[in-house]
Amino acid sequence: MAVDPLIELRDVNKYYGELHVLQDIDLTVGKGEVVVVIGPSGSGKSTLCRTINRLETIQSGRIRLDGQPLPEEGKELARLRSEVGMVFQSFNLFAHKTVLQNVSMGQVKVRGRKKDEADRRSREVLEVMQQLARDGMTMVVVTHEMGFARSAANRVVFMADGRIVEDRAPEDFFTHPESERAKDFLSKILKH
Ligand SMILES: Nc1ncnc2c1ncn2[C@@H]1O[C@H](COP(=O)(O)OP(=O)(O)OP(=O)(O)O)[C@@H](O)[C@H]1O
Ligand SMILES: [Mg+2]
Repeated sequence: MAVDPLIELRDVNKYYGELHVLQDIDLTVGKGEVVVVIGPSGSGKSTLCRTINRLETIQSGRIRLDGQPLPEEGKELARLRSEVGMVFQSFNLFAHKTVLQNVSMGQVKVRGRKKDEADRRSREVLEVMQQLARDGMTMVVVTHEMGFARSAANRVVFMADGRIVEDRAPEDFFTHPESERAKDFLSKILKH
């Protein structure tokens, strides 16, 4: 990868009791990269994101952010949480306002805009996220919005049963999915 890595997961494994929810996850997200994570319900997408800002602990493996291991507690953890935002981007399910607030915060951070100005610019969530991507914000986005994946993502990570099954450029992924799981998933989701 040409750019510096910002987020690195190596051999990450996580269990919820008997359920092996993240299995040998290897993922590197470069600075300024936009990675869209897709996959069937229950495949571990949210859990993966939650491990990155340590809302969930892992049983084995390593997660580094900007070259540093994730802080375990205290001030460092609070700082991590203030810098690694989470936006649950499921347009029909989650409160619009919350998403906008999150996106606005991102804009203030990235561009040093005044808050009201940022708010005014936030109407259309997708547009704002696309703008943030253009502005160089690193993003890991869980979405069922394939339009966003196609237009803004540098990579699509497809998960199934706790594993990363494909990690590809969006056009490749959408036109030539390799795995049966991805083919099946796409045939269902693209029909809607
Ligand atoms: N706190 C928890 N305790 C036990 N099991 C959990 C917990 N959170 C999630 N799971 C289980 O872990 C698996 C992965 O869940 P996760 O929410 O990461 O999936 P997802 O890919 O985000 O799904 P969706 O598309 O529905 O949001 C599911 O089987 C889920 O039931
Ligand atoms: Mg989820």
